[in-house]
Amino acid sequence: MSEQAFDITPDRITDSDQAKEAVADLREALRYHAYRYYVLDDPIIADPEYDRLFNILEVLEEKFPALQSPTSPTQQVGGAPRQSMGLVRHPVPMLSLRAVYTQQEARDFDATCRQELSLGLMTYVAEPKYDGLAVELIYENGALVFASTRGDGYTGEDILANVKTIREIPLQLLSLDKEPVPERLVVRGEIYMRKDEFNALNQRREESGDNVFANPRNAAAGSVRQLDPKITASRPLHLFVYEVAECRGREFTQQWEMLAALPKWGLKTNTRWQEKCSGIEPALEFFRRLSETRDDLPFEIDGVVIKVNDRQAQQALGFRQRDPRWALALKFPARQGTTRITDITVQVGRTGALTPVAHLQPVTIGGVEVKRASLHNLHQIESKDVRIKDWVLVERAGDVIPQVIKPFPDKRSGQEQPFVMPETCPVCGGPVVTSRDRKQSHCTNIDCPAQIRERMVHFASRRAMDIEGLAGRRIDQLLNTGLVRHIPDLYRLRREDLVQLEGFGSKSADNLLREIEDSKSTALERFVYALGIPHVGEHLAQVLAARFPDLDALSRASEQTLQAVHEIGPEVARSVRAFFSNPGNRKVVHDLLEAGISLDNPLHAATVQTKSLQGRTFVFTGTLQNWTRDQAREIVEGLGGRVTGSVTGNTDYIVAGPGAGSKLDKARSKGIAVLSEEDFARIIGQEAGDSRQ
Ligand code: IVH
Repeated sequence: MSEQAFDITPDRITDSDQAKEAVADLREALRYHAYRYYVLDDPIIADPEYDRLFNILEVLEEKFPALQSPTSPTQQVGGAPRQSMGLVRHPVPMLSLRAVYTQQEARDFDATCRQELSLGLMTYVAEPKYDGLAVELIYENGALVFASTRGDGYTGEDILANVKTIREIPLQLLSLDKEPVPERLVVRGEIYMRKDEFNALNQRREESGDNVFANPRNAAAGSVRQLDPKITASRPLHLFVYEVAECRGREFTQQWEMLAALPKWGLKTNTRWQEKCSGIEPALEFFRRLSETRDDLPFEIDGVVIKVNDRQAQQALGFRQRDPRWALALKFPARQGTTRITDITVQVGRTGALTPVAHLQPVTIGGVEVKRASLHNLHQIESKDVRIKDWVLVERAGDVIPQVIKPFPDKRSGQEQPFVMPETCPVCGGPVVTSRDRKQSHCTNIDCPAQIRERMVHFASRRAMDIEGLAGRRIDQLLNTGLVRHIPDLYRLRREDLVQLEGFGSKSADNLLREIEDSKSTALERFVYALGIPHVGEHLAQVLAARFPDLDALSRASEQTLQAVHEIGPEVARSVRAFFSNPGNRKVVHDLLEAGISLDNPLHAATVQTKSLQGRTFVFTGTLQNWTRDQAREIVEGLGGRVTGSVTGNTDYIVAGPGAGSKLDKARSKGIAVLSEEDFARIIGQEAGDSRQ
């Protein structure tokens, strides 16, 4: 381990020899610290220090491009997307394992092994059977050169670019405890996602309307088999290595010895859960222990793998068609069950998302009674064609929410009913809006009790109304004590109420009241963003504020008018319209304005100033590619101009698309400016061709 790396200052490095040495030191240091962090879970430097070294390396590699290397720690972030996945041939076939479900079958396996080898006692290595995605990694002279999936066992998909983004997978092998780096090393292992990370990922996907993954295995496989490595890089993935398929320059006599060598090269094995067992009984004991603790493990497993420890014995036992005779998967009972859906109701989440939930005839799956399962969204229900009263296959995986996998249409009696998304929110009765792809349904009521906390947090947040000191815990306190029920109540808070709350002194009460008071004068775009209209984030709030002079105009705009605004698609237009059509929302907005909120709109002022078509008259002729005639009219009018049907002496511009006829001729003869669609786009401040249809 080099200590020099810590003193490197990139500015002082000017010649390439110096740089070469510094880059080598930095890479060595970073690899070692990544190993301490990711493989051993035992870092010896603080994160900022690691980041500092990483930055220096990045700067140097940029300054001296000749020193760049595909195995540098800086390359662990994901390159450009590819068109398709290439294929990689496995140097040694990647076989599967014979799976059995009873301990007796494992005892029989042991008896067969002993008989074949004429041995009284066999030594085994027992490990969890990870439920992820099998990978093969090939290192040449220590550098990761190939990574592939199992594929058909002989050829797999090339996933190198993606695998390089996984922090636990070293791009360059280490050589710790004097274990030399082999000339060539082919290892296999399992890429997996932890259960907590899986649940968090799914929750984020659910909220953003993306399809959720059925289980951590699918999530891991889906994340690795991506054309764009940046997507893989954004997913939490881990690796356990469990096999060496080839190791040039190093013989292993035992499986156990091999497992012990892997971490010395920086490869992660599951040191907590792997055991050397004298005879089959300790291996079965391991199996029973894991069966009990399975749910408490941070990752999914679906059994244990029992492998003959002695490599020579492995060779002597050899292979069957597709699996080795020296290894066995002893699997846990399946965690799927068949039951009937008695009803489907919806749950309202903190963000107003409505999630359909299947109520099930109770069924015991893997020792746990399951009564409910998530159905995620309308799209999933409709594409799987799940109906109320259907018989369904349900899967429960650890602490993962049970899922309806599929219905059994053959078991239908004719009483089954399709699910209909309620038109009103079951919590507050507010209107429900479902997106066109049917993946998201939202309660649009700003006052909905199921959402009030999150809406308030959002309302007060820095980029919205920016009420400093009003965040999660304070908001909980205000809601729990009943001081505040609706957002406008914030503006009615009194000093004497606040000082009675725990943790509030007169100073902090005054501070909060001052912040609330200060928030009253703000810009329209912040206020629109603060309202938390589904699909309207900060950027679109700005777009809307630039287009409409004030809140009143925005709240009255028709769907069509909204759609005519550049960047506002049908989904957003619908959502904005639905929001302002809701009397409950209108009341909240009214109460807020009543409480003294005043909105200025600098964005609109700027737009009108710089792009004003005030006093200009337009005529459109021919077919427009980017806008309908109505949209074009909305745009011109929005910028203060006028659109007429015929060319007169008052016409300032004629916009001519393909197929323009007599109007164009007339305009030409009168010397009126003729604009192409591109010219028009420029005048209204849009790039041609980037408008939605
Ligand atoms: S060893 C020749 N060990 O199980 C032996 N496999 O059915 C090759 N798996 O695709 C496999 N955990 O993805 C081995 N500890 C473990 C494993 C394991 C999970 C998977 C692996 C393979 C499948 C074989």
